[in-house]
Amino acid sequence: MKTKAENFDSIVNRTEVPTLKFDAETMQGIFGTSELWPSWVADMDFRAAPEIIEALSLRVDHGVFGYEVSRGDLRGAVASWYQNRYAWSFNPEHIISTPRTLNSLAVLINLFSSKGDGVIVQPPVFYDFKLILRAGKRRLVKNPLKLEQGKYQMDFDHLESVTADPDNKLLILCNPHNPLGRVWPNKDLARLSEICLRNNVFIIADEIHGDITYQGRYTPVASISHETSLYSATCISPVKSFNLAGVANSMIVIEDEEKRKACTDWYKRMEINKNNVFSNAAMLAAYTKGEPWLEQVTDYLRGNIAILRNFLQLKTPLIKFVEPEASYLVWLDFRETGLDARQLETFLVSDAQMAVNPGHWFGREGAGFARINIACPRSMLHAALVNLEKAYTGISSGLQH
Ligand SMILES: Cc1ncc(COP(=O)(O)O)c(C=O)c1O
Repeated sequence: MKTKAENFDSIVNRTEVPTLKFDAETMQGIFGTSELWPSWVADMDFRAAPEIIEALSLRVDHGVFGYEVSRGDLRGAVASWYQNRYAWSFNPEHIISTPRTLNSLAVLINLFSSKGDGVIVQPPVFYDFKLILRAGKRRLVKNPLKLEQGKYQMDFDHLESVTADPDNKLLILCNPHNPLGRVWPNKDLARLSEICLRNNVFIIADEIHGDITYQGRYTPVASISHETSLYSATCISPVKSFNLAGVANSMIVIEDEEKRKACTDWYKRMEINKNNVFSNAAMLAAYTKGEPWLEQVTDYLRGNIAILRNFLQLKTPLIKFVEPEASYLVWLDFRETGLDARQLETFLVSDAQMAVNPGHWFGREGAGFARINIACPRSMLHAALVNLEKAYTGISSGLQH
């Protein structure tokens, strides 16, 4: 089966199944209305790769859904994927299967730190990191990112100071970064890793946005050096790149034997060590046959980003675009509009009819920004932008151009 690029243009009615992103009650609860462009959940409005749908159909047709063994061929396919695309080699046996990435993060934090310990994060960053730390009674320690000439940069001097505190035991690296779409350059990863290793701060890397990048590939932090691979745990998953959030499992790669054993034992003890048969089928198809589709969807997303970039420049010049290097999440800068937090929420929800994530959800460093998701058919994006333009025109007489 071949995927034609125009497939991404066709609208799938996602309300036929109980879709979180489109759920009226949930949107009503969060935004106070459900008559909005749903752009607040990080999944795509596209059908999955035909190769994955076919693999799932074959698995359904088989008709027996009893226990499956843990698949060596799946682990091998994942290791080959990372070797071929990212020159990161690891032993397939070093992969631990987990139900979800947030579960992987929660387990790693609980295993490799204690209550009250500090865990360093780099805001503005995916808000669930904060929720996991709060639930695990860890202290959130910020190493805020800095926006310099349109690009977010790490603050290494500040990182030196927070890693020097012996009570700060872990750092969660978001690579590439959600919501900023930043692909961290090798030199930044090398510097971050050197600082963390020197100060005994173990790195937990969330790399689930690594497969969709717009200029070249991302670098897995564990591939930086042998020492880094031994002092990090990497969370990977096909859920973002292949749009499988409702079906696929996630994985952790841990090279250090003792830490890997601690983690594997925990999953065994908790009896969370049986894979879902559909997850197995979908993941194997993704990692063995999904690459052409992934390239096509990335091209389509690149096109949507270009449309958004041109639109903002032409129609809403006070809304600045932070160029995404990865993922379908785009970080918009509203600070020049002069709207305060409450006015910005009213503008986005009531005027522009957008269910998007206000920047302060990602930490106070995100105030004045918002994250939108452009992984939708172009006609939906156009409709959303028409509403944004109307809203902008409506308030622009009061804006300082
Ligand atoms: C950086 C990052 N980590 C984790 C998750 C959640 O992954 P999962 O649904 O597998 O728990 C998301 C979802 O948006 C994400 O963006």
